[in-house]
Amino acid sequence: MKKNFFTPSLLSFALAATFSVGVHAADIKLGVAEALSGGAAQYGISIRNGFQLAADEINASGGVNGDKLQLVIEDEQGKKEEAINVFKKLIFQDKVLMVFGPTLSNSAQAADPIAQAAKVVAFGTSNTADGITSIGEFVFRNSVTEADVLPETIKIAVKKSGIKKVAVMFGNDDVFTKSGYDNFKKALEDLKIPVTTTETFAKGDVDFKAQLTKIKAGNPDAIVLSALLAEGAPIMVQARQLGLTVPFIGGNGMNSVKVFDLAKDKADGLYVGSPWSSSNASAENTKFIKAYTDKYKAAPDQFAAQAYDAMYITAQTLKKIKLSGDLNADRLALQGALPAAKWTGATGAFQFRRATDRAGKPAGYDAQQTPIISVTKGGQFVIEK
Ligand code: ALA
Repeated sequence: MKKNFFTPSLLSFALAATFSVGVHAADIKLGVAEALSGGAAQYGISIRNGFQLAADEINASGGVNGDKLQLVIEDEQGKKEEAINVFKKLIFQDKVLMVFGPTLSNSAQAADPIAQAAKVVAFGTSNTADGITSIGEFVFRNSVTEADVLPETIKIAVKKSGIKKVAVMFGNDDVFTKSGYDNFKKALEDLKIPVTTTETFAKGDVDFKAQLTKIKAGNPDAIVLSALLAEGAPIMVQARQLGLTVPFIGGNGMNSVKVFDLAKDKADGLYVGSPWSSSNASAENTKFIKAYTDKYKAAPDQFAAQAYDAMYITAQTLKKIKLSGDLNADRLALQGALPAAKWTGATGAFQFRRATDRAGKPAGYDAQQTPIISVTKGGQFVIEK
């Protein structure tokens, strides 16, 4: 009897059980490269939270065809060099299926070519500068570009606040703030709105009074501002302190509830645009806002919403492709299937749109979504139409 204990059928059962445990342990590893420290952590922590919330929800409801999503999270510090290091670690050492991030366009321009060359999807959820998806067909983003959003933001601000002439202020050492400037300039030219003065600043600057004093002398009806929060919030505070009470028109970098923490009672009168709004009462957004607030005890912003939706877009795509276990083949399969993704999430209906490279040839994939324009009033973003 003893001798016959491991009958062929029992043996194959034991092997099958061991094998299935082994398969389960091989969860789907997704890289998350975001700025979790430094000035850009204002965005990166919200983004990380959005990813984690979505992954937890997906895993709790069966994962991807039974496999769990496992996030490998790294801090790229909002710095180009760190983003490159982190992308290399995630792709070559951790052997993730794909990488989300990095937080800033400035870092994406440096790090995304690593993913493109390795044939690994780089999925940005906050990169809004021109040219990021020109890098190649492995570069995706669900963050709507400055080129798509800023003309709408200007149009609504002009209509609502009777703006006839503006001053412009932008960071001249960052890919996103420079791209925002280019797009603001074009939108203003298209609407034939004169610019009283154009002022610049750099990352890490803290005193903007010289530029704001010049702006005040030109008596503009609004200040068009292409900045990240670290500089943009003190610019708003110092403008108000100098008696400049005109509206600000900002890009994606200013579009976060963090502006209320940073600029406090000086945060009113800021126009921004994004497909996400806390006031959108759709079922998907209501569920997202409640789940986020319950988990993190803080209000979400559009950076969290974009990340949350990106995780669902990816998981839904992964459910459709059969992962083979061959990492390179699976990485290619994801790149091949992602462009067809369609999803209705916290940011509304989403699909990708093919971008082109500098020579006009098909490259990566941008977001096809309509922005909602809001203005800050009494510590809230209020939708403007
Ligand atoms: N939207 C900002 C960027 O692209 C955060 O850098």
